Amino acid sequence: MNLSRRFRRLRGTSAIRELVAETRLTPDHLITPLFLIEGENKKEAIASMPGYYRLSLDLLEKEIQELNQLNLWSMLLFVKAPDHLKDNEGKEAVNPEGLMQRAIRKIKSISPQTLVMTDVALDPYSIYGHDGIVEDKQIVNDKTVDVLARMSISHAMAGADFVAPSDMMDGRVKAIRDALDNKGFTQTGILAYSAKYASCLYGPFRDALDSAPGFGDKKTYQMDFRNSTEAVKESLQDIDEGADMVMVKPAGAYLDIIQKVKMNVTVPVAAYQVSGEYSMIMAASANGWMDEKQAMLESLTAIRRAGADVIITYFSKKFATNFYGNKK
Ligand code: PBG
Repeated sequence: MNLSRRFRRLRGTSAIRELVAETRLTPDHLITPLFLIEGENKKEAIASMPGYYRLSLDLLEKEIQELNQLNLWSMLLFVKAPDHLKDNEGKEAVNPEGLMQRAIRKIKSISPQTLVMTDVALDPYSIYGHDGIVEDKQIVNDKTVDVLARMSISHAMAGADFVAPSDMMDGRVKAIRDALDNKGFTQTGILAYSAKYASCLYGPFRDALDSAPGFGDKKTYQMDFRNSTEAVKESLQDIDEGADMVMVKPAGAYLDIIQKVKMNVTVPVAAYQVSGEYSMIMAASANGWMDEKQAMLESLTAIRRAGADVIITYFSKKFATNFYGNKK
């Protein structure tokens, strides 16, 4: 055949494929979620997230060392608050001696270079499992925002580098930015969960933190998965209010949203490969239906290709281990 172009030339060997690959993903791009619990020497398996654990603070030293050796320097912290500390006001969320605040100080003392990001929302502290204060079965916006701002200050005081509001209340980014600035925390950043959808893919996470909503669902604050324009509107609003980075969540089924947001903003875009995405891959691989490593690489690379600058993923250690162990 007399062909003017043969595209297969650029696919012929590993060397040429590596040379021309458009999408690069390294451990530098990843944020590792950590689930923290009270107690000593506790490493609890999470049934719906095979291979992922809840850790007590005394095990953080070893964990952080492992992460740093893999060149993973950014963490996103979540805590499982004991039941007796839950209420409807988020009192424990602002406790300077709370689990989150102690965890931040501990990580910063172990590894000052580690970038510590913290989840800001009331659900782990709420008797109702909702992200905000509940009145007459409604999640009230403005009172919640006030607690979120105080919660952010308490995280910043403990040493958090970034707070990550995941609650989807209106106006919270501005309130948090103002509160931080007023207290002199002008260098504490905000990673806003801007386009967070009401998704079934958070199920395993809610198991991990025992934070499933006690009544109703989260559709009055998290976004409707039929919408995409709203993702841009939310992101632009959060940037206006002071967000340093915006986030799309979940990631894998929302690649169009990641791309749309990326094309409309000039701040870094993060995407959260959530618990359900992780668990689907782990469950299928455990059954021998997919190759775990390949599924991990393909899913993470696709998220980056869509436009994510940063990816939050439960696969960070596996990816980083593979990245160094197998340079291809
Ligand atoms: C809570 C929060 C959730 C996740 C992160 N922060 C759950 C929810 O909104 O119900 C989900 C993360 C995951 O599924 O991995 N504000």
